[in-house]
Order: sequence, then structure tokens, then C-alpha cells
Amino acid sequence: MLASMISASAETIEVNVKKVGAPIQPTMYGMFFEDINYAADGGLYGELVKNRSFEFPQAFMGWKVFGKVTLKDDGPFDRCPHYVSLAYPGHNERRTGLQNEGYFGIGLLKDAEYRFTVWAKAPTGHAQIKVQLIDEHSMGETQVIVQDKLDVTTKDWKKYELTIKSPVAHNNANLRIILAGKNPIDLEHVSLFPKETFKNRENGLRKDLAQALADAHPGIFRFPGGCIVEGVDLATRYQWKNTIGPVENRPLNQNRWEYTFEHRYFSDYYQSYGLGFFEYFQLCEDIGADALPVLNVGMACQFQNRNNEAAHVPVDQLQPYIQDALDLIEFANGDENTTWGKKRAEMGHPAPFNMKYIAIGNEQWDDMYYKRLKPFVNAVRKAYPEIKIVGTSGPDSEGEMFDKGWKAMKELKADLVDEHFYRNEDWFLSHGLRYESYDRKGPKVFAGEYACHGKGKKWNHFEASLLEAALMTDFERNADVVYMTAYAPLFAHIDGWQWRPDLIWFDNTRMFKSCSYYVQQAYMTNKGTNMLPCTMDKKPVAGETGLYASAVIDKDKKEYIVKVINVSNDSKDLSINLKGLKTANAVETITLSSTEMDAENTLDQPEKIVPVNGVMSISNATISDKLAAKTFRIYKVKY
Ligand code: AHR
Repeated sequence: MLASMISASAETIEVNVKKVGAPIQPTMYGMFFEDINYAADGGLYGELVKNRSFEFPQAFMGWKVFGKVTLKDDGPFDRCPHYVSLAYPGHNERRTGLQNEGYFGIGLLKDAEYRFTVWAKAPTGHAQIKVQLIDEHSMGETQVIVQDKLDVTTKDWKKYELTIKSPVAHNNANLRIILAGKNPIDLEHVSLFPKETFKNRENGLRKDLAQALADAHPGIFRFPGGCIVEGVDLATRYQWKNTIGPVENRPLNQNRWEYTFEHRYFSDYYQSYGLGFFEYFQLCEDIGADALPVLNVGMACQFQNRNNEAAHVPVDQLQPYIQDALDLIEFANGDENTTWGKKRAEMGHPAPFNMKYIAIGNEQWDDMYYKRLKPFVNAVRKAYPEIKIVGTSGPDSEGEMFDKGWKAMKELKADLVDEHFYRNEDWFLSHGLRYESYDRKGPKVFAGEYACHGKGKKWNHFEASLLEAALMTDFERNADVVYMTAYAPLFAHIDGWQWRPDLIWFDNTRMFKSCSYYVQQAYMTNKGTNMLPCTMDKKPVAGETGLYASAVIDKDKKEYIVKVINVSNDSKDLSINLKGLKTANAVETITLSSTEMDAENTLDQPEKIVPVNGVMSISNATISDKLAAKTFRIYKVKY
């Protein structure tokens, strides 16, 4: 029916299904994770207690203490030495204890169980604490949501555990601990986790957030940043070796996103490293993504240190940094008899993680970077020739320094070059042919951080996601040179963000996926196995008439997949000709559309804009469609 309604002047997209092109890499569409916006501590990492080991520079940050509480520093964990002693306040009516505010509160789900653990000792013999989940500002009879008692019976440090079930849902509860009785008690590493985490691990991840990652099916997962890899100075750079082993003894680090933006300052933002490299590798394995760890190249953040050579490690003193890179590969891939492979096995993963990629440096630029990268490349190539090395072209998306970066990466024979572009609508619209001119013989492209940052519209509005979808057709058309991509950043806490847009937003109990998430997911789950030529008037469909398009074949699913984005203000009469297709019965469609360009999903309306599945007919190898204005549609034809 629809076919007869399409006018004779329909715009024709031609897909040649017989000309199967280059393979689409499994890593083609991925994710970038950084502990920004409380993405790790306070987000994906399931821990609900902030400053659980009293290691913040202000030891009681996040805690209210009352009665006789003393801070001590000769605890059982040498890299987290602080703990607290609670003593009888002098009268049965008085209280000694402490109360933790969590991250913007503690989120509780109705009828969910929580695992409270604490390292404790009772120096003078049997002591007891009350453990309460409270609503401090409750208007009801009591602040106490639920409570239980914990007996501490040892004079030496021991880990104690209590399961607490919350009878109610609460977005902003607190944890309160009160000394019961007269005997003193020492407490260290006070922790509260939901029992139900992703894959139900004890040091686990928040289930709904991790599930959202799994549901997207990313091919690559880049971690742990971003700028936090660099630190504002070398002392605060991300050091992966500090993030493995028992969580109780992982030292605290600053999080530069505490203070990077004065207009969005969060004084309590630190990295506990509870979500560390072991957990990142495990997450990659769980969600079926290749791991892409990023390591420091011996440079502090160049934005913060501009041309100050002294802020970075002298080239002849880089060996410990290079060794970190080599040891990481051994940690991930070495067998149990190797020094670092043994540590991985001791953490519960005897099998190698099969790491294939390593990125050295984040957004570094100029000779300062190139001369430091060189010895890393030499050392990794020599010890692990099979590992692919990712270098960077710096923070610019084009221009002199960008070109210089690419030239240097070619000379150093990096396998991939990490490009970043946070750009506005015009940039996205005009870059529909970005990769056509790239050198096919040089390193491959990793579009490692990108997002449409609307002019004056820096949030996850629909239009931004539409333009991202349009640009992604160019990734796909050039899959012979674009091997990896990742939207950025991934997560943001609604009460604690520094940077937006972001792919997934959450508060303490809820989450929503942005329109950009749905675009990414649509590409990830429909990436196909090989490119197919896709043209209009013999040219790539790259915005000339407001349309962007690309096509792939999925040899495993026996499907042709065409992606079309109409960014114009008018609906389009479309004719998609699958040249060479013999027979097909129907077309499955996935459509993301909105009439409001500024509209977005929210916690209260998480599904305002979501993909809609449909079916349409195909006749004579031609799909006839009227594609609404501002619409992203995927057409899937089984062959
Ligand atoms: O994604 C936020 C930041 O943007 C990253 O840390 C950095 O690489 C880029 O500048």
C-alpha cells in the first residue's frame, strides 16, 4: 500500500548486496568508562558507604560522629591505616557512634537485602553495636527504617557481617552505628552493599547499571578514563597496581573531577579503587566486550600543566611507568606461575582475561607525548608483539596539532589512534564524510570519545542523539579504517555530575537510558559482519539532502541492515533498493524519532523516547518508505 503512496520523486538509496566489503570489527561500537559524575564510587560500584576506611584527608568526611569517637592510625591495613574507636559516653542515656550519609544518601530498594560488613575488635572483651538504616528527616514516629545488633567477640581484628533487609524503598537513607553497652569497640572498613549485585559478587556492581551495559552489547570497553588517568599531577595519576588485591588495602586517590570545574565542585569526590582493574576486566568479560585499559604515559594532565615539561616524567626515567604497562599485560594474560598472573588468580580468576589492546596516554599532544610514547611502544612490541597499541591524536578533532599527532602515530606505528570530538550540531552535520579521505595503510581509527554537545544545549536532548546517529553512518561506511568507537562519558549521577551529556543517568535507586544510549545500542546490536556499498546518485549518503545512510550484511544472522537518518525538517519519500537481492518477505524496522528536538528521557519519564520496532513490506528488492522528519530508522531484511 505504502509503495503506491510514495511519489515518483522518491529519493533512492542503493545498496549493492552482492559487493560484500571489508569486515566490521567486533570492537566497532564500544563504551568509555571514567570515574566522572560519580560513575564509579557512588554509581556503578555497589558500595553504599562513603569514606568507609576513614582515609579521606578530612577523616570524617561523609560521617557524623557523636559521643566518644577517636580516630586512630595503626589499623590492620598498611595502605589504609585509619580506624575509629568507640567508647562508652559516660551515661546510659548518652550515645557514642557515627552516621554515614552515603553518596547523596543511601539508596534502598523495598524488601532488598543489604550486606553490612565491618572489621572490628573489642579490646576489653565482648562488645556490641546497633546497626541502623535511618531516615534522619523522617516525619514519622521513628527515624529507624530497620536495625539489628552485631556482637564483636574478638580482641583481634576480624571481619563481621550482618544482613539487613529494608522494608521500604528510600532514595536518601543513612547508615547509623551506635555503641551498645560499656565495652569499647574498634571499627575499620565499614561497608554496606546490596546483596543482589550484578552477577551477585560481594565486591560487586550496582545491578541495574551494569545490566544496562550488558544490554547494549558493546564490543570494546575503555577504562578507567580519561583525564583521571593523568591526574592534575603525577602523584594523583591513576595507578592500576593500587587498585588490585583486597579492597580493604587499596589506597585512596584523589579524583580530579572533585575540583576540575569550579562551577560544579564536589568536595567529597575521591577514588576508593574498590572498582579496580580486576573488576574492570571481569566486567568486560561479563558483558562480552574487549578490554581497553588506558595507562599513564608519564605525563600529568596537559590542560592543567600546559607547556610545563617539569610536570612530567623525564624521558630517561620512564622505566617504572613502562614496567606498569608490561606488568598489566602479565596481570591480564600471564599464567598462574607468573608474578602478576598469580595475583589475578589469587583474586579468583585463574584463567587469563585475554587482553588484546592497551592505550598509552589519554589526550596527549605534541612532542612531549611522542617522545615518551616511543619507549613504551618499543618495550610492549618487544615483550608482547601480539598486543595492539592505541596512541592518541590529542584533544582536537582536526587542525595542526591533530595532524601532527596522526603523523607521529604513523611514524611510531601505533595500531590505532584515539580521536576525541565533543562538538556541536554544525560540526556533526558537516562531518558526514570525515573518514572517506583517511589513509587506508596507516593506523586504524579509534573514535574514543565523542558526543554532540549542542550549542547552548549541553544535555541529552533528542537532536544530539540524532546527529550522533548520522555521524555513525560514516564510521560504518569506513569500517575498513574505523575499527573502534565509543560515545563518552558513560554514567552520571543526577545529583553529582560534572560533565554532560552522558549515556546513562541515575540517582540512588533509579536510572534511565538517554536517547544517545538507544542510538549506541541500535548500532551495537545491528553492526553486521561486513560493509555494503550504500549510495545515492552514486555518492555516499552523507547529508546532501538531509539524509545519512550506511549498510552492512550480517552473514551470521543472514541479514542486510540499512541505517538511514533523516535530519531534515521534512518527511522523505524513500526508496531503498537492495540491488542483487533475490527474494525477501518482510522488513523489520527499528525507529527512534521525536517531534521535540529538545526532549529527553528523565528519571520520571525514562521511556519518553525509545526505539520502536515495526515491520514493513518489500517488493522487487525495494523498500518504499515515508521517513518522518528527524528520524533514525534501521531496516533489516533476512535473506
Ligand atoms: O569524558 C570527559 C573527559 O573528556 C575525559 O576525561 C577526557 O579524556 C576528555 O577531555
